[in-house]
Amino acid sequence: MSSQLKSAAPEKSGAIIRFKNASKSFGDIRAVNDISFSTSKGEIFGIIGRSGAGKSTLVRLVNALEKLSTGEIYVDDVKITSKTTSDDLKQLQKNIGMIFQPFNLFGSRTVFKNVEYPLKLSGVSKDKRRARVVELLDFVELAEKADVYPSKLSGGQKQQVEIARALATNPKILLADEATSALDPETTLDILKLLKRVNDKFKTILYVAIMSVVKLICDKVAVINNGEVVEIGETSGYSKIRTMKLPRILSTYYVLWKVENCRKCGWKF
Ligand SMILES: Nc1ncnc2c1ncn2[C@@H]1O[C@H](COP(=O)(O)OP(=O)(O)OP(=O)(O)O)[C@@H](O)[C@H]1O
Ligand SMILES: [Mg+2]
Repeated sequence: MSSQLKSAAPEKSGAIIRFKNASKSFGDIRAVNDISFSTSKGEIFGIIGRSGAGKSTLVRLVNALEKLSTGEIYVDDVKITSKTTSDDLKQLQKNIGMIFQPFNLFGSRTVFKNVEYPLKLSGVSKDKRRARVVELLDFVELAEKADVYPSKLSGGQKQQVEIARALATNPKILLADEATSALDPETTLDILKLLKRVNDKFKTILYVAIMSVVKLICDKVAVINNGEVVEIGETSGYSKIRTMKLPRILSTYYVLWKVENCRKCGWKF
């Protein structure tokens, strides 16, 4: 992989997320260790690494689900440190949507009400909420499931609802932690295409996934090991989903083949 990765400037103008010597410890465990890099507006930035490498912790630091131990993170030029107040963090979270595994939908609410929930929390009026939910369900191609409960949805459909809900308040950044890991290859491809459409609407996506998936969708990738970035660069050497002109059946097999290779060899393949 290293031969295909070009080194990236750690601090680039137009950065929307910038880690500056960011560290997070849980007792003796240094889950994130002195990490510095930045992502540019509108790009899809992949994070890969072995289990326990610190990927989820890194992502959770961005929307303050974990508090920094030392260092700084700038999200759209708003500085987060270990001392950032919860009011500031709430303000910051408005700009960030998050999707992750396992699915996190409310089982007792319909698809419509799940997507509506963050809008309600933000105090959006009923008419505006309805219009936005209709627009979002249309965007994720799930309009016909508006009145269905999550238990009646497939894994892929649940993920579509998660994405619609994460986009409800129109965040600038979408964090995706293992968003496709529980899905079969064909559904994975559908969700990746959806994420690409989300990205085309100028949203930055920070995406934790396995290498085969990252290569299909991400502009850049960072490899994390023991809480540190060991490699960072562009994925331009790979054919991306947007440039794949293969018919659907072939592209499904392509993902299948990639995922299988990845299973055999881990992210090093
Ligand atoms: N809340 C916590 N309390 C204590 N240790 C934690 C906590 N969260 C994570 N860790 C530890 O931090 C390290 C990094 O965990 P993290 O979940 O970020 O890894 P990961 O790369 O996302 O792994 P996976 O691929 O399995 O999801 C691990 O050693 C983990 O045990
Ligand atoms: Mg994780």
